[in-house]
Amino acid sequence: MNHFLDIHKTDPAALRHMITQAGDMKQARQGRPKGTPDDDQPLAGQMVALIFEKPSTRTRVSFDVGVRQMGGQTMLLSGQDMQLGHGETIADTARVLSRYVDMIMIRTFDENVLTEMAEYASVPVINGLTDRTHPCQIMADILTYEEHRGPIKGANVVWTGDGNNVCASFLHAAGQFGFNLTFTGPSQLDPEDEFIALARSKGVKIRIERDPAKAVENADLIVTDTWISMHDSQTARERRHNMLRPYQVDEVLMQGAKDDALFMHCLPAHREEEVTSGVMDGPQSVIFDEAENRLHAQKAIMRWCLGV
Ligand code: CP
Ligand code: NVA
Repeated sequence: MNHFLDIHKTDPAALRHMITQAGDMKQARQGRPKGTPDDDQPLAGQMVALIFEKPSTRTRVSFDVGVRQMGGQTMLLSGQDMQLGHGETIADTARVLSRYVDMIMIRTFDENVLTEMAEYASVPVINGLTDRTHPCQIMADILTYEEHRGPIKGANVVWTGDGNNVCASFLHAAGQFGFNLTFTGPSQLDPEDEFIALARSKGVKIRIERDPAKAVENADLIVTDTWISMHDSQTARERRHNMLRPYQVDEVLMQGAKDDALFMHCLPAHREEEVTSGVMDGPQSVIFDEAENRLHAQKAIMRWCLGV
């Protein structure tokens, strides 16, 4: 049994196996209606709890569909509707759920909720996003990059904007998959030093560059995310927008990167804020492949967690 809590906590060989398996499983389903089961039914008879303490479209639907394609069943739970949201401890919740279900996916605020759930659960726990990281997203992003451009090892990735939870998992992935990452954004929103140091300790180049035009020179991939995440207070909205506006991804910024550079965004996007519609809908954008690949990547993550 394995928990999938974060990319830096997962063995690089296991991560590589998941990406390969995800690609193979995607290939095997080409042209089939989404609702048809996979030939292989590795989750037959298994029940998966999907807990959401924050909103979700992609994570919710892709996990649900993925479990069903592999022959399992899902139970969708909202934090507020559970006793968890009304004072029952995480440890007790984890022990109780482990008596009913075979795996738990949780999207929550504080990452301590996730780690405590994993500590007390006797079934695998998957991180479906916390305030601090979003590992499932980056597994889908690696799969997407490699489908379009081949091995990501040695590639130059530029993150522009807020050094948030998605950026943190990109930094973790840089260390584990061996690509370089440049962060460009205001110093107040830099990624955590701990994550930068960890990536650097694995021998990859991590650069902080305040000038977005300089940052994207020689980039193979440009990535951004919303300026205000679900855990951010709306009261800081105006201030954050002012700080982040220079880091918007527009057509001019894309032109400063390599000719064949890709654009990614985990979605949901705020069009004309962190990215223009011209870029989102343009030829370099692979955002909807990214969204689709959540499904395939997470199927491989779930199989690894259950060892099936
Ligand atoms: N990218 C992502 O995790 O989207 P949702 O919030 O819709 O799940
Ligand atoms: N950074 C965003 C990602 C949403 C998928 C958030 O945490 O709201």
